[in-house]
Formats: sequence, structure tokens, C-alpha cells
Amino acid sequence: MPPSAYELRACELRDLAQVGQIERASFPERPYTRLDFAYFLLVARDGFIVASKDGSVMGYVIATARGREGSIQSIAVSPESREKGVGELLLRSAIDRLAGRCGRVHLLVDAGNEAAIHLYRKLSFEETGKVVKGYYPNGGDAVEMVRKL
Ligand SMILES: CC(C)(COP(=O)(O)OP(=O)(O)OC[C@H]1O[C@@H](n2cnc3c(N)ncnc32)[C@H](O)[C@@H]1OP(=O)(O)O)[C@@H](O)C(=O)NCCC(=O)NCCS
Repeated sequence: MPPSAYELRACELRDLAQVGQIERASFPERPYTRLDFAYFLLVARDGFIVASKDGSVMGYVIATARGREGSIQSIAVSPESREKGVGELLLRSAIDRLAGRCGRVHLLVDAGNEAAIHLYRKLSFEETGKVVKGYYPNGGDAVEMVRKL
């Protein structure tokens, strides 16, 4: 799907039902709750971005800033919209919003999540070497990645 076919915009309260569906399809073992997303709406503000077309949400990303340190809290694309460039555009948009405010951005990713690691490397994130053993409910290790802004 060409990028012009959908828009990237700040998430709103009315999007949270669809964001929740994408979340549960993407992270069945550890989905954020509606309360978690409401909290992120407050703290991330315009760093909580959705890709949407005709009122239908295809994916979301949440970027927060603490001082000069940016963080990608989560990113997910609905299963039927994957591998069409939506995740990359969402992540680029989140990075753009953090740039200027932060000196770097970091994230944690499941060591076995090849799709996400491929996307992060493509957008110049690098492994720091820090691994959090057994971070995920399935026992998976979390790998820290970072990108200068
Ligand atoms: C990770 C995720 C957000 C990627 O979104 P997407 O819209 O499918 O990604 P894009 O289409 O923008 O692809 C970006 C790059 O990743 C690659 N990629 C996407 N899915 C892939 C897969 N399953 N395996 C390998 N590479 C993959 C694409 O080929 C592309 O790289 P390329 O241009 O070099 O070919 C999506 O797979 C997802 O929602 N997964 C479940 C949630 C998740 O794991 N989130 C990350 C938590 S840390």
C-alpha cells in the first residue's frame, strides 16, 4: 500500500479500542491494557502515533522522552497490514518527533523477534550489548538497542 493511502497522526481516545485489538493480536502473552494506553496518551502525547485509513487503525507506535533520553515503548502493526512498510513509517515518525528533544533513543526487543530487530537495524539502531535475561513472559531475553538522534 502506498504511504499516501493512510495517514500518520496522534492517537486519540477513540482509537484505543482498535489499538487494543492490534495489541492483543501482536502480544497475546503480555498485552498492554486499556489503562496502560490511556496512561501513554497522557505521558507520550504526540509521541503516541497511529497509522490510520478511513477511521481504521493499522498500527501504532509509542515514543516517550525523559530529559534527553528517548524511548520506544511499543510498536505493533495489525497482522493483515504487516510487511507493507507501515511499521517503518511509524518508527521513522516516532524518531522524527524525538529528534531535537533527545540525544538518543533506546528500546528493548525480544531476542527472538527477527522482524522487529530487522526493522530497528534498518533504521540505524544498534545493540548495546545489554541483555535482560527472562524479561518476557515466555522466558525470552530482552536485547537493548540504541540510536543516536
Ligand atoms: C515488527 C513490526 C512492527 C514490523 O512492522 P511491518 O509493518 O511489518 O514492517 P515493515 O513492513 O515496515 O518492514 C520493515 C522492515 O522489516 C522487514 N520485516 C518485516 N517483517 C519481517 C519478518 N517477519 N521477517 C523479517 N523481516 C521482516 C521488512 O522486510 C523491512 O525490511 P526491508 O525493507 O529491508 O525489506 C510487525 O512485525 C509487528 O507488529 N510485529 C508484532 C509486534 C512486535 O513484535 N513489535 C515489536 C516489539 S519490540
